[in-house]
Order: sequence, then structure tokens, then C-alpha cells
Amino acid sequence: MSAVISSLSQRGDERPALHVQSFSVHFEYPVYFTERLFAHDNPVFKDVLQRREAARRHRFVVFIDENVADAHPSLTHDIAEYARRHAQAMELVAPPERVPGGEQAKNDPALLTRLQQRLADLRIDRHAFVVGIGGGAVLDLIGYVAASTHRGVRHVRVPTTVLAQNDAGVGVKNGVNAFGMKNLLGSFAPPFAVLNDSAFLRTLQRRDRIAGTAEAVKVALIRDRAFFDWLEGNASALRDGEPAAMQRAIRRCAELHMRQIEQGGDPFETGSARPLDYGHWAAHKLEALTSHELRHGEAVAIGLALDARYSVQVGMLPDGGEERVHSLLKRIGFDLWHPALDMRDAEGRRLLLDGIEEFREHLGGELTITLLRDLGIGEEVHRIDTAEMLRALDWLRRREHGD
Ligand SMILES: NC(=O)c1ccc[n+]([C@@H]2O[C@H](COP(=O)([O-])OP(=O)(O)OC[C@H]3O[C@@H](n4cnc5c(N)ncnc54)[C@H](O)[C@@H]3O)[C@@H](O)[C@H]2O)c1
Ligand SMILES: [Zn+2]
Repeated sequence: MSAVISSLSQRGDERPALHVQSFSVHFEYPVYFTERLFAHDNPVFKDVLQRREAARRHRFVVFIDENVADAHPSLTHDIAEYARRHAQAMELVAPPERVPGGEQAKNDPALLTRLQQRLADLRIDRHAFVVGIGGGAVLDLIGYVAASTHRGVRHVRVPTTVLAQNDAGVGVKNGVNAFGMKNLLGSFAPPFAVLNDSAFLRTLQRRDRIAGTAEAVKVALIRDRAFFDWLEGNASALRDGEPAAMQRAIRRCAELHMRQIEQGGDPFETGSARPLDYGHWAAHKLEALTSHELRHGEAVAIGLALDARYSVQVGMLPDGGEERVHSLLKRIGFDLWHPALDMRDAEGRRLLLDGIEEFREHLGGELTITLLRDLGIGEEVHRIDTAEMLRALDWLRRREHGD
């Protein structure tokens, strides 16, 4: 070896490093909006499996959020029947399996291992499909199981909550909680396809239905003034879960999230910014402080109102903007105060404020928080004045309790 190096150096060719030259990988995936995905005459699922190779018979497995399976008792049968009717195009390699629903799905290392083992036992390879049906939590888990097995098998997402259809399910991230940290293990892995079936939303609890609309308000606030105005005009329809209004809000919200991934320049979040995470530093902390008693969307709604008020106080958002944000969220049905906002450490310091540094730590690098320059225009800042933030918090409490 040393002989080779010295002979190279004699030729003056001893470079300190060899480089893999720049290469790029192309990603693309469709997000369908459909109704009754596994009705035998609905071609979407079959077309998706055949999207790249029409001639093959595609093997697939399905994992279903148990609360979805309970609320849709014929689903397992419908999937098996769909596969039977389209047997030339697909093979369901095992009966659909239930997985625990909600955040607990992401908190159980034994479940993760069991599902990876299951894919190995069923001989799921990189040409086969793993289909996850459920809320954002189950999809994050199944996405990670698929991404970590054989270094990535094809993954189809079927989101069944408002939040999963307009945000969590249409993006490129997956993951589970580990060692006491949210989303510590996970990867960036674009899905093969996303299939949003509006029929699933009918069985959501009112609370979950409303929670998911927080992400629509969020993305409207930082990206799309016309969408914000539309949300104001349709707040009561959204509160009542009117299907047409829900569909429009979900579609626009999903579109704006997808545009960020496609055109934002950093789909795998290598920099310090989380451009779509407006209102989220407080939301993530609140979820932790309440041990997930608050839903993600409920915590986000509080974070949106708080950061809107802070944006006004620091001279970014014109006066009155915060009132419109607050009033829209109230009319959709959100509570905008929670006792956890008042939790303090032994020195009387508000625990919520730790959320600012924790938000930075998740990515590393410079603190970057999106605030509002106007309704529809987000703007990143790199410093938060904690005294000012505490005043914003007092404002929020007074708006909710009037004391
Ligand atoms: N990967 C991402 O980019 C991303 C983005 C945002 C959020 N997330 C993650 O998503 C998760 C939250 O997702 P969520 O808001 O969908 O909540 P969730 O997955 O916890 O679902 C809420 C509840 O509704 C149940 N449920 C789901 N669909 C149902 C249906 N159609 N009918 C009846 N019940 C149903 C679930 O079992 C659960 O009990 C969090 O873990 C969050 O970290 C991920
Ligand atoms: Zn969110």
C-alpha cells in the first residue's frame, strides 16, 4: 500500500481525498383524492400499484390503525375482496393486520421490531409494497418500518385523519419516538404514492377532525392570504365538518405542503430552517408538557395564536392581525388556553419557554423560527425575546379567560 502511495506522490498525484462527484436522485409521487378506495370499481389502488410496471403481479401487505379497523368493520374484507377481483394485478400476501392507533404506535420498540420481522417473514422485498392505513402516528411508524427494511421497500400511505391527509401523510418524513424523544428514529423517505380517501374522515371524533384544521390555518398564515380569507368565510362549515368545506381545506393545505417539499429547496431539511413549522415550537413543548393529552393540532392552534400576538408585539404583523387569527381559531372550535402554559420550574420560570431551545436542537444549527410579517406571509427570525413572549402569553390568557 505504501509503495502505491509513494509511487503516486512521485508523480505529484497524491490528493488528500477522493470525491464521489455530485449526483442527484429523482423523486416523484402522486397524491390522489378519492372516495371509497377499496370499492371494487375504484381503479385508483390498482393503477397505483401498476404505476411503474403494468405487466407484473404486485405483492403487497397492509397494516391498519386499529381504530380505523374498528370504525370500518368491512375494511379488511373489502381489501381482500379487492385483491381477489384484481388478482391479475396484485397479490395480498397476508390478511391485513391491525396495529395500535395513536401516539402509542410510535412509543413501542417491540412493535417496531415485530413489524420489521413480519416483513422479513413475508419475504417483502424492494419490489413489493407496504401499505399503511391510519392516522399520522401509524403512518409514521409504518413508513419507518418500510424505509428501514431492505434499506427501503415501496410504501403506500392511506391517511385517515384530517391532519394526516393535509400534512403528515403527504410529506417525506417518517419516524418513531425513542429514548424519551419525539421522532428520534426515522428517515426521509418519499412514499410510492399517497391515497386520501374522504370516506375515512366520517368516523373521526369531532376533536380529531377539528384538530387537523390547525395545519390549514397555519399554512394559510405563512403562505396564502386568499386561503386565510377563505378559511375565515368557512369557519363554521369547518367546525361542523361539512364535507365540501373539509375537502377544499384539506386539498389546499396538502398542496401547499407539497409545494414546499417540491420547490422549497431543502426537502430533507439539511439546513436550520423548518419553514412550515410556524407555531410549532410552543406546540411541541405543549404536547410534551401535557404528555400528549393535547392533540398535535390542538397544541398547534395555541402556538399559532401565541406567535401571531408576539409578531404584532415585535412590530412584524400589523395590529389587529392577531385578533383575526384568534377569532378564526375560536370559530373553528379550538380552546386556546391550557393550564400547561402556566407550568413553572422551581425558580418560577415558565417551562414552555424551554420549547424554543428544544426546537433549535431538533435540527441543530441556528435558531430559526417562522413568525408573521402579514396574514399570508411568514418570515424567519433567529431570536425570540422571552419577556415579550411572556407578555404574549398573558395576552392569550386574558383573551381566553378575561382576567
Ligand atoms: N411525518 C410527518 O411529516 C408528520 C407531520 C405532522 C405530524 N406527524 C405525526 O402525526 C401524528 C399525529 O397524527 P394524527 O393527528 O393523524 O393523529 P393520530 O395518528 O394520533 O390519530 C388520532 C386518533 O384517531 C384515530 N383514527 C385515525 N383515523 C381514524 C378514522 N378514520 N376514524 C376514527 N378514528 C381514527 C387514531 O387511531 C388515533 O386514536 C404525530 O405522531 C405527529 O408527530 C408527522
Ligand atoms: Zn404540525
